Amino acid sequence: MRPADQDRTIWNPYLQLGNVALGDSSARIDVVWHASPDASRWAVEYKEASDTVWKSASGPHFRLVDIRSVPTHRVYDVTITSLRPGRPFDYRLLRNGVSVFTGQAVAKNSERQNYRFVVFGDCGANTASQRKVAYQSYLAKPNFIVIPGDIVYEGGRISEYGSNFFSIYESAEASPEQGAPLLTSTTMIAAPGNHDTNEERDEGAPDVLAYFLYWIQPLNGPPLKPGGPNSPAPPDATNEFAFENGAGPAFPTMENFSFDWGNSHWLILDSNYYVNWNDPDLRKWVADDLKRANAKQWRFVAFHHPGFNSSREHFEDQWMRCLSDIFQREKVDIVFSGHVHNYQRSRPLNFQIDPADNSDNTSWKNIIANPVDGTFSLDTTFDGVSKTDPHGIIYVVSGAGGETLYNPEQQTEPESWQKFTSKFVSQIHSFTVVDIHGKSLALKQVSEDGSVLDQIRVTK
Ligand SMILES: [Fe+2]
Repeated sequence: MRPADQDRTIWNPYLQLGNVALGDSSARIDVVWHASPDASRWAVEYKEASDTVWKSASGPHFRLVDIRSVPTHRVYDVTITSLRPGRPFDYRLLRNGVSVFTGQAVAKNSERQNYRFVVFGDCGANTASQRKVAYQSYLAKPNFIVIPGDIVYEGGRISEYGSNFFSIYESAEASPEQGAPLLTSTTMIAAPGNHDTNEERDEGAPDVLAYFLYWIQPLNGPPLKPGGPNSPAPPDATNEFAFENGAGPAFPTMENFSFDWGNSHWLILDSNYYVNWNDPDLRKWVADDLKRANAKQWRFVAFHHPGFNSSREHFEDQWMRCLSDIFQREKVDIVFSGHVHNYQRSRPLNFQIDPADNSDNTSWKNIIANPVDGTFSLDTTFDGVSKTDPHGIIYVVSGAGGETLYNPEQQTEPESWQKFTSKFVSQIHSFTVVDIHGKSLALKQVSEDGSVLDQIRVTK
């Protein structure tokens, strides 16, 4: 636990997107913190450099986490509005009128501003490499970070978030040995991975599915029912009420959502096998969401299980390619995934699924059990240096954020890669850094030691 314990906060504040409505591009941001359920009066104040006085954020609201085996606590949340896009601001947390934490951050960017984001997945494993990646990401000073799943190992449990997530991304000291204070300064956004919602769930463990308690993200996806179709299983019956009471409408609707940042639109999806992405209603929601974002310069999608993967590990898990036709039609630029613990960048590609593999809902079980066949059209002239206008979608696997690497031997065996794979780095942990300058995008893959492993430019 942190020094902040004396002030009854369990973890320092962290920045979240908040429950943003579809298409809301304002520079709002949520500040979230955990504290004991006592009578303390909590408040958040903020100011920009030009302000002489602190302003009050409205709230807070809280979720009660009263779940067996973990200390009862509240997840407090305030929304800061009326910030000026892209401007730095200070915020402070007050308990009973006394400041207990002060942080600095930069407001969400507007349509015309340049910005930078970082992507890494499969991270919360409490490893030396996770700390190094956290530190290097901090040095990159991104405007936001996207985690495409497997946020916290082994089972996405409340009891694992402390050691495997908060202690590293809220490290007071920024160093390769400790991690960095990323969460207090940078908005983190996450998709649920298999370890966050459904796998490695100890039988009867009460504190699973922390994703739905600790992340405050948009609830603008298709409404889903707890334990119903396309939902992860709730905790077992003795813990279900307490969990659902705490999570409220976030469970399970927060599985899928979208948001805008600057001139980009983002779609975040739950790619776990219990979601049937051949469900016509879900497919329509994806198509409509991307269509609505047609005016945005860039469209990005992030989810856990990659649709296109050359690694021997998890080679069977490529069912998400069944959404390629929608992504192609709606002109998605890059799809980011994790799950496979290495870095892979595809050639720009178009994929036409075999009709037999995409017939109806009942085939979903077959789709998740077998590789999805189809026809590829690869842009082999795109090199990201002199030819920067891709014909097709670039699929990036950035799953080397901390957990043990997969298939290090394949890095030097290009003959083992699928034809769609252009770059494959599996011998060192790494993360993705993307700079957006209007119609120009620069993508770099950076190692845990700060060296550049891959670099491309994409222009429109
Ligand atoms: Fe995974």
